[in-house]
Amino acid sequence: MYPERPAGIAFGGDYNPEQWPREVLEEDVALMREAGVNLVSLGMFAWALMEPSEGRYEFGWLDEIVDRLHEAGVAVNLATPTAAPPAWLVARHPDVLPVTREGTRIGFGGRQSACSSAPAFLEATARLVRALGEHYRDHPAVVMWHVHNEYGAPLGECYCEHSVAAWREWLQLKYCDISALNDAWGATFWGQTYGDWPEIDAPRLNNTVVNPAQRLDYARFSDGEHRAHYALQRDILRELTPGIPVTTNFAGTVNCKSADLWRWARELDVVANDHYLKAERPDNHIDLAMSADLARSVAGGAPWMLMEHSAGAVNWQPRNLAKRPGEMRRNSLAHVARGSDSVLFFQFRASRFGAEKFHSGLVPHAGTDSEQWREVVRLGADLRGLAEVRGSRVRAEVAIVWDWESYWALELDWRPSVDLTFRERVDAFYEALWREHITVDFVHPSADFSGYRVVVAPSSYLLAEASAKNLHRYVEAGGNLLVSYFSGIVDEHDTVHPGAHPGALRELLGLSIEEFHPLREHETVALTGGGTGADTARIWSERVRPAGAVPVRNFAAGPDAGHPAFTRHDLGAGTAWYLATAPVTGLRELLAGVLDHAGVTRPRGLSDALELVRRGAHTFLINHGDDPVTVEGVTGTSVFDGVRHDGPVTVPPGAVVVVVETPRP
Ligand code: GAL
Repeated sequence: MYPERPAGIAFGGDYNPEQWPREVLEEDVALMREAGVNLVSLGMFAWALMEPSEGRYEFGWLDEIVDRLHEAGVAVNLATPTAAPPAWLVARHPDVLPVTREGTRIGFGGRQSACSSAPAFLEATARLVRALGEHYRDHPAVVMWHVHNEYGAPLGECYCEHSVAAWREWLQLKYCDISALNDAWGATFWGQTYGDWPEIDAPRLNNTVVNPAQRLDYARFSDGEHRAHYALQRDILRELTPGIPVTTNFAGTVNCKSADLWRWARELDVVANDHYLKAERPDNHIDLAMSADLARSVAGGAPWMLMEHSAGAVNWQPRNLAKRPGEMRRNSLAHVARGSDSVLFFQFRASRFGAEKFHSGLVPHAGTDSEQWREVVRLGADLRGLAEVRGSRVRAEVAIVWDWESYWALELDWRPSVDLTFRERVDAFYEALWREHITVDFVHPSADFSGYRVVVAPSSYLLAEASAKNLHRYVEAGGNLLVSYFSGIVDEHDTVHPGAHPGALRELLGLSIEEFHPLREHETVALTGGGTGADTARIWSERVRPAGAVPVRNFAAGPDAGHPAFTRHDLGAGTAWYLATAPVTGLRELLAGVLDHAGVTRPRGLSDALELVRRGAHTFLINHGDDPVTVEGVTGTSVFDGVRHDGPVTVPPGAVVVVVETPRP
């Protein structure tokens, strides 16, 4: 259920007028009208103002703001402020404060300073949300509910007494019988067998590595506790305002490791995502694209909301680079291209005090006589021009397997190499596909893959048997699957699948691994073949023993010289490919071979500075480079200037052109 209002693309963001004198509201409203802001998120961190002491609710100050915005035609995304529990709650119930894995109880003064399992926090949450919901249930300005803020960031796991009590209950529900837990956790290893539930603790800091299956379950449990805290609020709001969508904003699909967003997305009426650029990464627009594609994917392909991004610099990275002219526009339109029906920011007006006073806003400290504000006004106009994009869908022929549980498991301690990380491989494949101008969906390994010509499984370390069978069926039915090393190694309890690696995928890939040979830091090994014949690889080498698979490329040096590095296995109507290393060069070429084999069409010879995405009838052309780029074969009308195209379109450096298919005159 996407909010009905505002019409078109929502534009605006977090608005914190409680930080400003009353007269600034008037100025802000005027500026919102100037820029075409049509949606703001209010009240995100205002619990202490909404409930100044226990049970005393004060919404008068907020009424004035909501009414004024409504008068001005600005819709309200009303937040429940539970990410900022007030000082009185913490003083009265210090046990709501979370405890870190190291055993430190955190203090008051930041945010997210309450544990999602603490009874006093849950009770106070429910009371406040009911009061808020009852107060605003009939207010015409309120078009959606924004619960909490970025669950999981920074509070992922809590190790307090309430968490441990809830954890034991969770385990009992999951395993029923303590011997089932002992089996699942491999408790005979290091003599950890449990006789009864109260013996089980959270996987606290230890002088050595803690049982990985226990840690994996704790990650699942902790994420579930936050989801329950969300659901508590959602259910109250749904009861009071059944027609109003409820959501919470993800702390960046690709960046918040602790939240399993496949599970989260099922609980939301509309998926909402926040994305902040990694300022120093020169091609950070690729990370942005990946975040947006993952948001669309967890939304099941439905339009989603970009709930926060930044107009300029953030303030929490080591070096907070301001956005260059045009960059905010490119960023915003890239999110829209990839399925967002909103362009919202943190925050409308840059704060003068507090932890985020050096964070950009739509209205910067410099005021409106600034490049920043002029760009904001222009963006508002652009978005009005894109109103018809709303609701349309992005189609992808290629998917990447993404599973948070595998992510968690892969990055626990004591793996064969510290260089094995989930994002390292996913990013490598995503980037190569992005540069090939391929739009990618992300899929859970148990999903229906039948709509994709190619599925890539990078570092799918944890693979349940049922998911492995799913991959098998996909290939047999004609799919193309590309698996990279250290995939299909363990089951859902982090127990190695029986037999030689990769236990879950041996048959499908037509090979087995005799031995892992992780490379030294900075070591590279040469590969045979390839266009230039000079490709090298890093991180990983292993002894592949084909059993049906055919070598396509071999290791030319290193511990596995003369043995396969890249193989192909035709199975049923499809093909399973396996890449046993991390190419430094040549990944794109290798992928291109798989894409060609699968008949995936894409523009050839187009500069990889140009981002090309199709959404419904609109083609977005975003030039991230310093030179003009000409794209061939574009037919339609340019949305921003009305120019008709039938063939080549030249996109100036840094510019965005959106062309909508229109019938020939
Ligand atoms: C987000 C958060 C916002 C704001 C922003 C700054 O993670 O949700 O409240 O802190 O970061 O970049």
